[in-house]
Amino acid sequence: MAHIPVLLNAVLEYFNPQPNQNFIDATVGDGGHAKAILEKTAPNGKLIAIDRDIESIIRAKSNLRDFGNRVLFTNDSFGNILKIAEENGINNIGGILFDFGMSTSQLENSGRGFSFQKDEILDMRFDSNNPLTAEDVVNDYSETRLADIFKKYGEETKAKKIAKTIAAARRMKRIKTTKELVEIIEKVSRRHGKLHPATLIFQALRIEVNQELAEIERTLADILKVLAKGGKAAFISFHSLEDRLIKNWSRDLHRKNIIKILNKKPIMAFDEEININPKSRSAKLRVIEKI
Ligand SMILES: C[S@@+](CC[C@H](N)C(=O)[O-])C[C@H]1O[C@@H](n2cnc3c(N)ncnc32)[C@H](O)[C@@H]1O
Repeated sequence: MAHIPVLLNAVLEYFNPQPNQNFIDATVGDGGHAKAILEKTAPNGKLIAIDRDIESIIRAKSNLRDFGNRVLFTNDSFGNILKIAEENGINNIGGILFDFGMSTSQLENSGRGFSFQKDEILDMRFDSNNPLTAEDVVNDYSETRLADIFKKYGEETKAKKIAKTIAAARRMKRIKTTKELVEIIEKVSRRHGKLHPATLIFQALRIEVNQELAEIERTLADILKVLAKGGKAAFISFHSLEDRLIKNWSRDLHRKNIIKILNKKPIMAFDEEININPKSRSAKLRVIEKI
């Protein structure tokens, strides 16, 4: 299944992209949001397209080929946004979009173990140059550290019990595949309602492997240096910790009178969108404007 961009209409409404305006898509993924922005910024608006995953960049290049040299692709983390903007020599950035987490393409076709519904290697890296894999975390972290991650990043209520069962299993044999891990989790935790017990554990491992919150903190420190006056930054979060980082950061800057908060409450998807794209159910959009 192709990735469907989340909250696309709301993003466009807030950005209100104008002909020849420059944008950064900090998480270009399959290029869904980027395409819609580029259509509005014709004929000369540039878009810096960042993604940490080279395979996302390859997909985005193909999906955005009609826009030619208006798109500048960078395979890097948005944590380096200042350096990336400088290297591309584009200033006057009217908007930066962050659509956190992973795409449907990564979940379904990467072969890197993002999905507990497939039997794949335990990798979960967005960037394959990153030395730490999910296999390393599962097998080499202490039981306490694993429990902490499951609790903090997964909000998993059985975090300690699951960590203990993993620790016992890995003493017999290194855990190498998603299937092996799912079977261990299922020993402790049965399905509650719609949520498979492995969902939160997989989410927590992905966040740890990619240091997702640390990368967000790094980019927040630099966003205002990159945005032009009147420029906007839009953040789509899927996790309460991500949303809280954005909320606290913007509240701070708002108090200092450096930015405007364009929506006090996060924008969420309507039922119509959720029916077509269930992933949008947990999405929260916050938008700020640099004064
Ligand atoms: C939800 S998808 C984006 C989908 C995109 N908006 C679209 O419409 O196709 C998130 C993307 O962000 C990338 N990503 C995650 N963390 C990143 C980081 N720190 N820096 C750059 N890209 C990152 C992932 O590799 C993934 O391709």
